[in-house]
Amino acid sequence: MTTNNIKFKVQAGGKLFGRIRVPGDKSISHRSIMLGSLAEGTTQITGFLEGDDSLATLKAFQEMGVNIIGPNNGDITIQGVGLTGLKKPNKPLDMGNSGTAMRLMSGILAGQPFSTELIGDASLSTRPMKRVTKPLSAMGATISTANNGMPPLKISPSSALNAIDYVMPMASAQVKSCVLFAGLYAKGTTTVIEPAPTRNHTEKMLNGFGYEVVSEKIDNLKTKISIKGGGLLKANDIDVPSDISSAAFFIVAATIADDANLVIEHVGINPTRTGILDVLKLMGAKITLENEILVGGEPVADIRVKSAKLKGINIPEELVPLAIDEFPVIFVAASTAAGKTVLTGAEELRVKESDRIQVMADALTAIGVLAKPTTDGMIITGGKQSKQSSKILSHHDHRISMAMVIAGLNATDEIVIDDCANVNTSFPNFVELINQIGMQLTVEKDG
Ligand code: S3P
Repeated sequence: MTTNNIKFKVQAGGKLFGRIRVPGDKSISHRSIMLGSLAEGTTQITGFLEGDDSLATLKAFQEMGVNIIGPNNGDITIQGVGLTGLKKPNKPLDMGNSGTAMRLMSGILAGQPFSTELIGDASLSTRPMKRVTKPLSAMGATISTANNGMPPLKISPSSALNAIDYVMPMASAQVKSCVLFAGLYAKGTTTVIEPAPTRNHTEKMLNGFGYEVVSEKIDNLKTKISIKGGGLLKANDIDVPSDISSAAFFIVAATIADDANLVIEHVGINPTRTGILDVLKLMGAKITLENEILVGGEPVADIRVKSAKLKGINIPEELVPLAIDEFPVIFVAASTAAGKTVLTGAEELRVKESDRIQVMADALTAIGVLAKPTTDGMIITGGKQSKQSSKILSHHDHRISMAMVIAGLNATDEIVIDDCANVNTSFPNFVELINQIGMQLTVEKDG
């Protein structure tokens, strides 16, 4: 990560138009490196996200002896080493800012015959890891956190992992994926029950690599996912679609700008990721899908967005896990809506790259929005703004930096956002695309 402080300065207002393509999906990019490395044979990846988070995963597998060529404009070739072919790295593996990398890797590393240590940056070092060490310990893994339940994670070889039946206490795709990855190395069939649907890329991609994963609905919300240990992964080429979580900033931007008509091309619209579209449509957004196709088993479409007058809503709780990364920018949309928007059932937002409830409440309050944080959500009263201060802190969180750029469209004055180098974790060409569609964003470097 760069040591220079990067500041964003956003001019108020803007008219948005054009066609853009945002970078590759972060969740799929991480998993493509993990599965390609553990497969037998050569995997070709196109559309890989060249952001710091997915590059941390790539580097970690290189440090465990996997020959990975690229990325070169999103193209990567991986010579897979098979499930048992990884080598002991000679230093701790640095996961940077990425909770996904640390939690998913912990499941894979719990099954290795060598010890490893996973470390992260200041933000990742304050994130809860007991949610993965608990099920992994129950499987027989030897894994520890620091005293506070946070990174670093230290993993030592165990004689064998046993399958478990795990009822997840929270709706988390990271925890589910961690346990399923450990399940590859366990004796017997591991099952995970999720309390509500979460992104299912791990299950779909394991199936794509020729490894059977069975998902059965238990009721309206709960799903049971099973995997039997001891099989093998077969190399599988992957075309990574654009990330709906990155598209989200532009979807909200075009919705709240005056006179906008914007197309975001080739975006992954897996139904476990499209909560943002449902929330915005309930608020009155004008969003249409064009050119829907299937790419490597994942649905993809061009998303057309036109300006709309939004109204406040009570966000249905079942949409929360399906829009989990999009709330910073959904809060921005709510701040422009007529009436109140109420979010509940979203306590997980407090343990993301920052406490996204508190940090967004503070940032929106600073630009004059009525935003009241609650233990598990937020109440935002949209409409008129009366600026208190235009200086925003991102708290090491890429999605806060980007959401507050979009807030500039409805601001009365210039907004300055401090500490924005983190945008590189998921969206390296964000500034370029924001300016391309008609907003005015400048970057200043200190130090
Ligand atoms: C992710 C799952 C989500 C999400 C994160 C990426 C993944 O976390 O917030 O950005 O790739 O599995 P949780 O599953 O912990 O909610």
